[in-house]
Amino acid sequence: MTIHYDAEQKIFHLQGKNTSYVMQVICGGYLTHLYWGKKIHTYRKSNPIAFIDRGFSPNPDPSDRTFSLDTIPHEYPAYGNGDFRAPAYQIQLKNGSTVTDLRYQTHHVYKGKPNLIGLPSTYVEEKQEAETVEIVLIDELIELKVTLIYTIFRDLDVVTRSVRIDNHGKENLKIMRALSASVDFRDDEFELLSLYGSHMNERNISRRPITPGVHVMESRRGASSPQQDPFLALIRKGTDEDHGEVFAFNFVYSGNFLTQVELDQYRNTRVSMGINPFDFSWLLEPKESFQTPEVVMVYSANGLGEMSRTFNELYRTRLCRGRFRDHVRPILINNWEATFFDFDADKIEQIAKEGKKLGMELFVLDDGWFGHRDDDKSSLGDWVVDKRKLPYGLEDLVNRVRNMDMEFGLWFEPEMVSEDSDLYRKHPDWCLHVPNRPRTVGRNQLILDLSRKEVCDYIVEALTKILASASISYVKWDMNRHMTEIGSAALPPERQRETAHRYILGLYRVMDELTLKFPNILFESCSSGGGRFDPGMLYYMPQTWASDNTDAACRLKIQYGTSLVYPISSIGSHISDVPNNQIGRVTPLDMRGHVAMSGNLGYELDLTKLSPGEKEMIKQQVAFYKEIRPLIQFGNFYRILSPFEGNETSWIFVSEDRSETIVGYFRILCQPAASIRILKLKGLDPDSLYKHLETGEVYGGDELMNVGITLPGIKGDFISLFWRLKKV
Ligand code: DGJ
Repeated sequence: MTIHYDAEQKIFHLQGKNTSYVMQVICGGYLTHLYWGKKIHTYRKSNPIAFIDRGFSPNPDPSDRTFSLDTIPHEYPAYGNGDFRAPAYQIQLKNGSTVTDLRYQTHHVYKGKPNLIGLPSTYVEEKQEAETVEIVLIDELIELKVTLIYTIFRDLDVVTRSVRIDNHGKENLKIMRALSASVDFRDDEFELLSLYGSHMNERNISRRPITPGVHVMESRRGASSPQQDPFLALIRKGTDEDHGEVFAFNFVYSGNFLTQVELDQYRNTRVSMGINPFDFSWLLEPKESFQTPEVVMVYSANGLGEMSRTFNELYRTRLCRGRFRDHVRPILINNWEATFFDFDADKIEQIAKEGKKLGMELFVLDDGWFGHRDDDKSSLGDWVVDKRKLPYGLEDLVNRVRNMDMEFGLWFEPEMVSEDSDLYRKHPDWCLHVPNRPRTVGRNQLILDLSRKEVCDYIVEALTKILASASISYVKWDMNRHMTEIGSAALPPERQRETAHRYILGLYRVMDELTLKFPNILFESCSSGGGRFDPGMLYYMPQTWASDNTDAACRLKIQYGTSLVYPISSIGSHISDVPNNQIGRVTPLDMRGHVAMSGNLGYELDLTKLSPGEKEMIKQQVAFYKEIRPLIQFGNFYRILSPFEGNETSWIFVSEDRSETIVGYFRILCQPAASIRILKLKGLDPDSLYKHLETGEVYGGDELMNVGITLPGIKGDFISLFWRLKKV
């Protein structure tokens, strides 16, 4: 890993583990993009930028009609002086103009990786793990400084990018657009891969051709959202799990984002990613700085599987933080689908007691324990125990559970307020709203204005009080609606469009303070399931409730799609009752178990109502998961059969040292006259022998990967298998 600068040619060569990223300063200071892909020794300009006189492409130098900003590949393109493609930034001056002209001034290479103040980002533990270059671009006329920050990692094919904008001039600047990354590929031989969905149907995979024009994935909802994920990949045609080049981008941010691909008239492809400029602007006064969030860029020469394993490892080890980063996650029992709002301390104690008997380790008390919340119409914001339900208080209940030798966890939805709450009655201006307009509710609730310091302080204080009042070791942090009337009573008119981003900065500050104050608490984020499953949240909370949809068949797709980017240790997955509460389907406990065991296992049903047979089976599931969870949560993940392509799904988990593997196989419906299914495993040691623990048979690693292993012919719908193989 090195970052090399050729001063004569003005070429930057960022050389990662197997990747090269090359840029050059040309023609009076424009920073251009030359190459990103498989590692090369030296860039000797085998494909220099072509200078051609193109129609409708304007020329900064009248004597050279072959030079136009419209036809060169940029690193941080502007709009207004020749490039008509999507700009990376746009800044308005006091005189109303939005034309700027950034030229290379200097750069600085150093070991390690900087933290982004107030924002989540990937990190290193030792300086030797990464190298960074900061490239400074200047607009001399207005003394605007834009610093492009690039980091490469020693052990992973990752480039991270972010941008800092400094106003060194004397007049106010208005940032109208400040993306974090823009990459110009000088070809169009790609397909576009992205993740999309909805509540209860998160992270479906979309793969499509790129056609001339612009393809946009974005959020205007105030959250990263289940509708579109802040992820996209350009993949070479024919790319599959194990073959083909992949150029992937993921945004470390939890709010409104823009990610887009533009194919221009000369078949160049521009990828842009950053805070959504829609309804955004930021007033930058003299001497002030604006830092954009980070984009993580992953290159894989070997298909989507390698891309995912790179993201997974980076996020598991160098994005997630805290005690639980490297710690196995407890098996939990959550009362939501068992009781909804209708419970009391005795009911909770009974469920926890059953859970303990079955080997579960953590009881989670979900929504409804505070204020007078008997449905979703009241009390958000009033984080005071409801004595009607818990007459002896929270501490008493926590102690009752802890005395069974179980941990205790609690649900909050800290960013919200109900109109029927003491908090709202006292501070009606503390929610997002605009003057003289109705306040649109979602799930009967309004959103607290986290762009305001006093509101953030209130949340920290209120949660601290509860978390310090009893021995609580887990928090489920929910967020159940998207933003409307995005305005803040505390900001002047010219800063109203900063509200959504300031909200996210406030949220990050609140989560930072609470997670630092309570380092032994495991925080799990949730947004009606996986509605805010993004790397920004993972920086503070190492796991996310992947979906409110717990149906095993639906979950196959949700978890498969999620695994494209996010590590298995970040995926919360529960076994719930049948018929399934969300879609009414009945699947066997076996399959529900195998699907939920493919993430962080939990249960969400009334254990007191189970039959002795079901209890016995759950006891076995829990014991089995305890044996395999280090491998599931910290092993390498390989996808074999996709639920998006057929009736069957298969994935496997392989330990870091390749000594052990777990093979998961799932079939939705039985097919008549079906062919024999042979699974070709991946990631094993080809020179070792593996024992199939269920059958006792021994096979070679090469045999399992190349010849494959035959599955037994089993009749029936909703079939699943979870096999273990160990090196002998
Ligand atoms: C939405 C979550 O996704 C559910 O798991 C549950 O916690 C409810 N909110 C509670 O209101």
